[in-house]
Amino acid sequence: MNEQLSLKLTIDAGRYFTPNAPIDARALFAGRHEQLFGVLDAVHQKGQHVVLYGERGVGKTSLSSVISQFLDVTPILCPRVNCDSTDTFGSVWSKLFREIDMVTEQPVPGFGKSVTQSRMSASDFFQDGQAPNDVRKALERLSMDRLPILILDEFDRLAPSEKGVFADLVKMLSDHAVKATVVLVGVADSVDELIAEHESVERALVQIRLPRMSQAEIRQIIENGVSQLELRAEETAMDRIVLLSQGLPHYAHLLGLHAVRSAATGEHPDLVQSSDVDQAIRRALANAQQSIRNAFHTATTSPRPDNLYREVLCACAVAKIDELGYFAAADVRDSIQRITGRNYGIPAFARHLNEFCSEKRGKILQRFGTPRRYRFRFRNPLMQPFTIMNGLNSEILNHKML
Ligand SMILES: Nc1ncnc2c1ncn2[C@@H]1O[C@H](COP(=O)(O)OP(=O)(O)O)[C@@H](O)[C@H]1O
Ligand SMILES: [Mg+2]
Repeated sequence: MNEQLSLKLTIDAGRYFTPNAPIDARALFAGRHEQLFGVLDAVHQKGQHVVLYGERGVGKTSLSSVISQFLDVTPILCPRVNCDSTDTFGSVWSKLFREIDMVTEQPVPGFGKSVTQSRMSASDFFQDGQAPNDVRKALERLSMDRLPILILDEFDRLAPSEKGVFADLVKMLSDHAVKATVVLVGVADSVDELIAEHESVERALVQIRLPRMSQAEIRQIIENGVSQLELRAEETAMDRIVLLSQGLPHYAHLLGLHAVRSAATGEHPDLVQSSDVDQAIRRALANAQQSIRNAFHTATTSPRPDNLYREVLCACAVAKIDELGYFAAADVRDSIQRITGRNYGIPAFARHLNEFCSEKRGKILQRFGTPRRYRFRFRNPLMQPFTIMNGLNSEILNHKML
């Protein structure tokens, strides 16, 4: 086998499979047409702004990063900023304006078409702590010769009182028909959760929920990477990655990366096989974020060798879920039966489910509803595929059960 080729593939794989970095190139951005068109429509409509929300890890930052690459209009100004819990309305806008470098061109008298350029930062005319009206005026100035799209990521981290001021701003920008689009991006199940004041600006704020990716979209991520690397992948290998990813693009990248690297060192470096995916699972488990590995350990550790924590958690990970990602104890019972072939009653594992929601087991699950009608889900969505991969690796689960 050609060692040079193997080394090149191993290195190049990391350019196209990026489990820990958002996508910022249109060529590598898979699917999401409906949501993307929703954002683009709002950009083209004066007075419309966007709130983009969904679970952690579904691709919100990526989508917001490629918006400008799908627009033909020029010039576009597309600064972005991450909000945090210490930010105020004013500090967020100061940060955003600091991202903008303004070049002003002035004709030089008597020299035909020649111009002088002076550089200033937009933050030069915007100071901390200012009000929505000041932001409006600054954006009006900016939008005279370009199209500003202002992206505020991790909006969920802001204090509720600060979020409300953004609703006022959206209303003001909309009333004045300012040719700029504010895009609020954050983790939330509903817009209510992200910005309680949204009702007062209903018409000006387009709500776009980013659900988990469809199987076709996840498949496209793998296909993009594999074809950029000029490789092929077996159908079964592709199917496995799609199933394991559970709609979360992070795992499509993580498994894609390690499967290609496994192929690169094997007998058929140009073909990703299902055995490479099995190898990728092992590497993905070992290379998963430390926080995920710790959380799994805290949830399932026990001094008793005959404990069932792992089995029950695996059953949770493959339980049938509703469209919001919740499962009930009865769904866990069904999947335990699939896993063990035995019929356990709910009381046999109710204690495990309760403990998974407790501090002691790191609150790996969240519980909603009332007793007897409880519904559960993984608090961190990335835990679910990790648990499934762990189950496969320790032979609690097999591919057929998925
Ligand atoms: N449309 C997409 N096509 C390809 N990969 C994507 C896409 N959306 C997200 N990803 C990948 O998924 C992972 C999580 O994406 P990210 O945008 O950071 O999610 P979020 O901001 O919702 O937490 C990253 O590795 C990113 O590269
Ligand atoms: Mg993000």
